[in-house]
Amino acid sequence: MNNVSISRRKFTHLLGIGAAVALVRPRVTIATEAATVPAKTKPGGVRLSANENPYGPSAKAHEAMKNAHVVCNRYPDEANDVLIDKIAKINNINRGQIALGDGSSEILKLCAETFTGPSEGKLVVADPTFEAILEYSKACGADVVKVPLTSSHAHDLEKMSASAQKGLIYVCNPNNPTASITPKNDLRDFIAKTSPDTMILVDEAYFHYADTPDYESVIPLVKDHPNLIVARTFSKIYGMAGLRCGYCVAQPETIKRMHGFQMWDSVNIMALTAAGASLDDPDQVPNGQRLISEAKTFTISELDKLGHKTIPSQANFIMFDCKKPVVPIIKALKDKNVAVGRLFPAYPNHMRLTIGKKDEMESFVSAFKQVMA
Ligand SMILES: Cc1ncc(COP(=O)(O)O)c(C=O)c1O
Repeated sequence: MNNVSISRRKFTHLLGIGAAVALVRPRVTIATEAATVPAKTKPGGVRLSANENPYGPSAKAHEAMKNAHVVCNRYPDEANDVLIDKIAKINNINRGQIALGDGSSEILKLCAETFTGPSEGKLVVADPTFEAILEYSKACGADVVKVPLTSSHAHDLEKMSASAQKGLIYVCNPNNPTASITPKNDLRDFIAKTSPDTMILVDEAYFHYADTPDYESVIPLVKDHPNLIVARTFSKIYGMAGLRCGYCVAQPETIKRMHGFQMWDSVNIMALTAAGASLDDPDQVPNGQRLISEAKTFTISELDKLGHKTIPSQANFIMFDCKKPVVPIIKALKDKNVAVGRLFPAYPNHMRLTIGKKDEMESFVSAFKQVMA
């Protein structure tokens, strides 16, 4: 978006220099828990609170970031273009249909700023859902309407439709914090029926963890629906939460409107480079899916033995019924150095728990048993 001083060829060449430099340097081992890095849990603690990926980014992403050090002095335009091209190819869309963001949080913020407010209309969301966009819309002066999830923890699309006139409907699928999905046929019908004056943002942050045949991405529907935006992130299965990179897919006119509110060069070179390299690693997604699925099965079965029911999960976290108020349990676990999800007021007895490594889940189960005893 700004004037660039080096061509993409030159940039690729510079990355090549980076690779050569990396070859002569001793190989760096990447510690997953570096003692010098600030973290929310104390050393030895277990962090199951933010739906992060405990295994981190692909080795290819680490290597690409090392190589990118030599171009840290340059603006990231070329790396931006390279990543957009890759995302376009994977999704079989044009590059004008993609906006990158400083995490998908920036995409949510841009949607709130572009499509909600006193003149644009209100924001309609499920309750409970991921709250960030509510805050962004309120800051724009928009009214926010919350529609409770159905008894099967799906979005109540009919009621959400009825509440919206213009503005924006936010559908988080799979939904955070419940890890539940809104079935694909219902979502497809809803998108087809919604007035083109009302924008729809489908947040697919946890897309890669959903494995039920009842779920599908709505990216292929964007070409037929000028009011549809789909958000994705590199923070979850790609393990890049601290690097900050996300994107959205929409029709070019929508992307142009959103760009008007966006800071230039909002995604940094390390995040862009790591994201691109992650997409080139064929193992990152299946490995992440397998490891999380194994640890999730273990955790759900342990909770089941203790008599705690889990909402069917299609994400890298679960929500289960503690059968009593969750806040004191969250606090007691914190005292044992186990961080779990925050309170979601619509489900005051439910705990949101990120699925970490198997040994972390064992630590959680042990601490939970003590706290509940
Ligand atoms: C549903 C959902 N959307 C978006 C985000 C924001 O992710 P990021 O900004 O790291 O891409 C999160 C983070 O937890 C999330 O759960």
